[in-house]
Amino acid sequence: MNTKLHEAFQQHFLIGAAVNPRTIKLQRELLAYHFNSVTAENEMKFERVHPSEHEYTFDAADQLMAFAKSNGMGVRGHTLVWHNQTSPWMFTNEDGSTVDRDTLLARLKAHIETVVSRYKGEIYAWDVVNEAVSDSGEELLRPSKWLDIIGEDFIAKAFEYAHAADPNALLFYNDYNESDPSKREKIYTLVKSLLDQGVPIHGIGLQAHWSLYHPNIDEIREAIERYASLGVKLHITELDVSVFRHDDRRTDVVAPTEEMLALQAERYKQFFQVFKDYSEHIASVTFWGAADDYTWLDGFPVRDRKNWPFLFDTAHQPKQSYWNVLEVARS
Ligand code: G3I
Repeated sequence: MNTKLHEAFQQHFLIGAAVNPRTIKLQRELLAYHFNSVTAENEMKFERVHPSEHEYTFDAADQLMAFAKSNGMGVRGHTLVWHNQTSPWMFTNEDGSTVDRDTLLARLKAHIETVVSRYKGEIYAWDVVNEAVSDSGEELLRPSKWLDIIGEDFIAKAFEYAHAADPNALLFYNDYNESDPSKREKIYTLVKSLLDQGVPIHGIGLQAHWSLYHPNIDEIREAIERYASLGVKLHITELDVSVFRHDDRRTDVVAPTEEMLALQAERYKQFFQVFKDYSEHIASVTFWGAADDYTWLDGFPVRDRKNWPFLFDTAHQPKQSYWNVLEVARS
């Protein structure tokens, strides 16, 4: 039997996977064997749990919680406030006009209270606010209805509501391009200002949607050190390693080449070495999936194109990347 990943890293951090109803079925054995934390890929997002004002739909999320419980896994909650996948009714009055600040805050509070208290004590960390920072330009926050209608303090308010609903859950700000120096500084500035205001925020989630080529290890180390200097916890929340460069639009690659797999194994080794080096700050490392038979990268950014970003292949067998990661755990 192969070594369980989560056992290999038990002195360092939890090993997680994002799951959905389909992968809970198809990858059940692999998930239960190697992982001791799960995140709902979509099933706890706003539009899934709260499709209309007085209707909450928790079936899929509850099934995920039951799967985690029966396998002794922790759960990361994802996500309460995002510019994406929020039901449109949230921002609209019955007559079709846009709601005012007080109405939106009241709706936000009701949403967060309901969702967070449902899983109180069962979710060890919540991605309270996801991807609020702007990717480019001078402005700190990306344009969104949250920002337009409430103003910048929609972020602080979300954390306050979540903390009131479950004072023991760790509350995270989660984002991507975390290693890009200019975005990294914006994320740092945002979290620092929340901490300075006394907002209950406990950590930064580094999504880690990386590739064979990007980012470089120094950029990752710098991001981790910069964030850790704020005294907050760090979680790696959505790790995957695309075999394509971000501007590679080829559609004729039907299987990963030997070269891709070797490079991927090398990258995974470097990444896990960094995570281990900083494991004093990093308590949880979650992949955005588990094995190459399912990844959100199938079809992104190029339609109908397959990708192979994980440690396990399409038949759930360990790739060289798995053995390299294990080597890091043992070194
Ligand atoms: O379930 C519906 C299905 O009924 C419908 O027929 C089909 C038609 O498009 O769509 C299905 O929903 C899709 C859903 O994934 C489930 O597969 C949505 O269109 C699609 O937009 C959605 O994508 C998700 C994406 O977030 C939304 O932006 C991905 O699965 C999910 O992996 C991805 O996860 C995000 C994190 O939450 C935040 N960080 C980035 C990460 C990757 O984009």
